Amino acid sequence: EKGGYDWFMLKEIAEQPAVVADTLRGRLTETGEIHLDEMRLSDDDLRDVGKIFIIACGTSYYAGMVAKYAIEHWTRIPVEVELASEFRYRDPVLDRSTLVIAISQSGETMDTLMALRHAKSQHARILAICNTIGSTIPRESDAVLYTRAGVEIAVASTKAFLTQIVACYLVALYLGQIRGTKWGDEVSAVVGQLQEMPAAVDKVLDTMEPVRELARTLAEADQILFLGRHVGFPVALEGALKLKELAYMHAEGFAAGELKHGPIALIGEGTPVVIVVPSPLGRDSLHGKVVSNIQEVRARGARTIVIAEEGDDKVVPYADHVIRVPRTPVLMAPLVTTVPLQVMACEIAAARGLDVDQPRNLAKSVTVE
Ligand code: M6R
Repeated sequence: EKGGYDWFMLKEIAEQPAVVADTLRGRLTETGEIHLDEMRLSDDDLRDVGKIFIIACGTSYYAGMVAKYAIEHWTRIPVEVELASEFRYRDPVLDRSTLVIAISQSGETMDTLMALRHAKSQHARILAICNTIGSTIPRESDAVLYTRAGVEIAVASTKAFLTQIVACYLVALYLGQIRGTKWGDEVSAVVGQLQEMPAAVDKVLDTMEPVRELARTLAEADQILFLGRHVGFPVALEGALKLKELAYMHAEGFAAGELKHGPIALIGEGTPVVIVVPSPLGRDSLHGKVVSNIQEVRARGARTIVIAEEGDDKVVPYADHVIRVPRTPVLMAPLVTTVPLQVMACEIAAARGLDVDQPRNLAKSVTVE
């Protein structure tokens, strides 16, 4: 049932092009519009949304962090992303014009469910983004958009993460479409980009053998640090979480801009640092700033493992290892840059002789608070 793979996790990583395509299927029209009738929230309700909260835990929370960039950019609706376990304890400001998006692979995470119930009691509207049909979170929500990742068996979430990002993007584009903040050509342009992502993810998977080899050389490291900016920041956090979960290794993700504000002190001779580099074509010269960060950490002894777009030569002089991903528009990048981090964590754990699919102390779905 592992389909020839050593681990369910590897099989699930390999399924990502297909599940991304599945999550898009039937939700886009030929003319590049978004159709989400299945969602059960009326267009009138959605037009009135003044504020969005995304609540989730773990990897689903990181998908929410990625989604925030797209939702605010495409809809101009303010978005807050919050750990479900923290949400209701700080008396968040909620009312009828608040849309709460609860992201959960299992649909049974107790922290997310309790946060959702709190939001409901304050009259917010609830949209679940969930992978498990008929589970508790979608049942208690006003609306649901299902991810179509299929059953995820490995405790570490992989394919669910990519489909959560895609589902959030569909919601964002739909909101933009009905509210007129994105219209016609703009929506269809992004739809075109989304449709290209299964092939892009496939391309990354084809180049993973050197990443596995590299990962095996990292198995004895004391710690691995991950840096990213913009949507690359949640990707860095996700890379670190995968490594903690699977390899029981100290791993931290940082916003690269925070380096000088503390984390750079962690870097010593040979410390592996994985840097998720934004596209050189992106806005706000972020690329140049991250290239400087690579230089800075290397000057302090780091072994730099750089995830960069094909054709991005600026990183080469400062990279001990370069992992190439296909060129994508900025907001699509997490769908490709996450994949090598998943493969690395899996391989490092295997090299340490650990059970990749069933890490110690963890359960697939956390049904207690
Ligand atoms: O089922 P959920 O998406 O609600 O689960 C949330 C987290 O428990 C989950 O993502 C967890 O962090 C994974 N083990 C990450 O790999």
